[in-house]
Amino acid sequence: MAVRDDQAREKGLLRFLTCGSVDDGKSTLIGHLLFDCNEVSEDTLARLHSQSEAGGRAGASLDYSLLVDGLMAEREQGITIDVAYRYFSTQKRKFIVADTPGHEQYTRNMATGASNSDLAILLVDARKGLQIQTKRHSKIVSLMGIRHLVLAVNKMDLVDYDQTVFDTIVHDYAEFAQKLGACAVQAIPLSALNGDNLSTRSAAMDWFDGPTLREHLEGVDLTPANTGGAFRLPVQLVNRPDDSFRGYCGTLSAGSVRVGDAVRIGPTGEMSSIDSILTPDGQVNKASAGEAVTVTLADERDISRGNVIAAADDPPPVSDQFAAHVIWMHQKPLLPGRQLQLRLGAQSVNAAVTKLKYVINYEDNSHNAGKVLGFNETGYCNLALDHPVVFDTFENNRDMGSFILVDKLSNETVGAGMIAFGLRRADNVHWQAMDVDKNARAALKGQKPCILWFTGLSGSGKSTIANLLEKRLLARGGHTYLLDGDNVRHGLNRDLGFTDADRVENIRRISEVSKLMVDAGLLVMVSFISPFRSERDMARQMVEGDEFVEVFVDTPLDVCEARDVKGLYKKARAGEIKNFTGIDSPYEAPKNPEIHLQAGEKTPEELAEVVFAELEARGIV
Ligand code: ADX
Repeated sequence: MAVRDDQAREKGLLRFLTCGSVDDGKSTLIGHLLFDCNEVSEDTLARLHSQSEAGGRAGASLDYSLLVDGLMAEREQGITIDVAYRYFSTQKRKFIVADTPGHEQYTRNMATGASNSDLAILLVDARKGLQIQTKRHSKIVSLMGIRHLVLAVNKMDLVDYDQTVFDTIVHDYAEFAQKLGACAVQAIPLSALNGDNLSTRSAAMDWFDGPTLREHLEGVDLTPANTGGAFRLPVQLVNRPDDSFRGYCGTLSAGSVRVGDAVRIGPTGEMSSIDSILTPDGQVNKASAGEAVTVTLADERDISRGNVIAAADDPPPVSDQFAAHVIWMHQKPLLPGRQLQLRLGAQSVNAAVTKLKYVINYEDNSHNAGKVLGFNETGYCNLALDHPVVFDTFENNRDMGSFILVDKLSNETVGAGMIAFGLRRADNVHWQAMDVDKNARAALKGQKPCILWFTGLSGSGKSTIANLLEKRLLARGGHTYLLDGDNVRHGLNRDLGFTDADRVENIRRISEVSKLMVDAGLLVMVSFISPFRSERDMARQMVEGDEFVEVFVDTPLDVCEARDVKGLYKKARAGEIKNFTGIDSPYEAPKNPEIHLQAGEKTPEELAEVVFAELEARGIV
């Protein structure tokens, strides 16, 4: 961010955020601080007076919250909906404050604001004490590596500035915070509205001998937390105007570097040394964390955006598996096994949670077992990526130790993660090269291996058609295998039920198995409801483009239900079976299947023939 300029550094720049529940007074607090610091123009002040009066505050105090961005929507809905950054300064320091929303839905913004803050002001309404939101935000703040926390007990005017109210909240918080992790906490009793202990000491609370909020913000230790480690330059851009120049641009996320320093490039591990360091002000000999630079290297190396140039003697780990805390921010829960996109700096890879070890209980910071991670929940999990990334632990480097998770279909950010450590086993398991490969196996069988993925409701006829097709293929000398949902659930997947999470795992395993079977040179028929687009897409991506044929057995629900061969629809309607597809569990129809069977119109034999003809047309048989 451009505000990390020299002037700011000389004077000291504190980035902080406010958090807490709705109505705890965040906007009023920031507005009043801005006002006290003379950051409000005459014009704005005049407008503020008239708006405050219009809001029914004539003659009374100003409505300082009107000074704060977040603006119209917040005023209209009574909640803040986006992260609003405000800049202001006092004689001692410059400040950037992220005003983050407190409404349940907006943990995402809270995490965004927290990701680059040095301090958090956690507001608590003196009348209400600690709320679940207070605890949740505390946890997020501590996970996000914020080292300073102000417990701002607000609205003290509404409890007659009573010391016992303050003491009780401080005591309750101390008890809770004990289990939270290292974070220096300063509690301050306030009235954001009246200005008590904001910039001036409160006469009504002479029992409090701590600092005012402003004194504290001006005095808090600003030594950067973890930018002192080894040199890291994540490459944002490769600048190559002509053949004679190749510069790597980015912002140093940690450490410092000098011309001549030996460097190692991640993830390739190639070595070189720094030839020159360029900044907007010209060539320099040395650069440090936070500075944006372009470096050139002594050797020609193949470096692209997302690679990291790092200290040769202390390079960052490279792995495709790690343990991390994940804050989940979407209404639809995180399902282990489902593929997501993981973005870490400029690196982007496919990733899935392979194991959810526990879900954090915000109330007391204890660990609960969980199969999925719900909206606003934080979990500790293992993740596996489809390509290795260069990273650091979050503890060592906030930039290179954090990532976001993006839904592959909607492109929405659904989670944020902080890396605890790379998993060793990833370093110790290597791909073993074999002499006999898929092509050799397929050639011997005289066929082109592929997956025929049948999807459709229970009772749609998938298995019947697949069975007929297999007989037909076999008669032609084909080498086949049929993986059937009901059958596989008797063995390999007998531990799985029908929750969304279990179905994701069911299909993930089957995708892996069918991929192995393709590698074995077989024609694999897969007959599973496979109700989710995400997992069918994942299966598709596991093999080559022409090795996956999706067959949508499109039989309407009423037809399947009328057939009810296994009597399951009847049970589902009677409530005896839960999560039944089409009844109380969703089915996401394919959008562009290779083969779309309008079942019900033809006999199973005819439908199998349609598939067979299509396979012939595709050169598979
Ligand atoms: S999938 O959704 O995970 O792909 P799968 O194809 O393995 O499902 O298993 C579906 C079969 O399990 C159905 O054909 C039916 O016989 C049986 N079944 C039992 N309970 C359910 C349920 N709740 N929903 C769907 N199918 C069920």
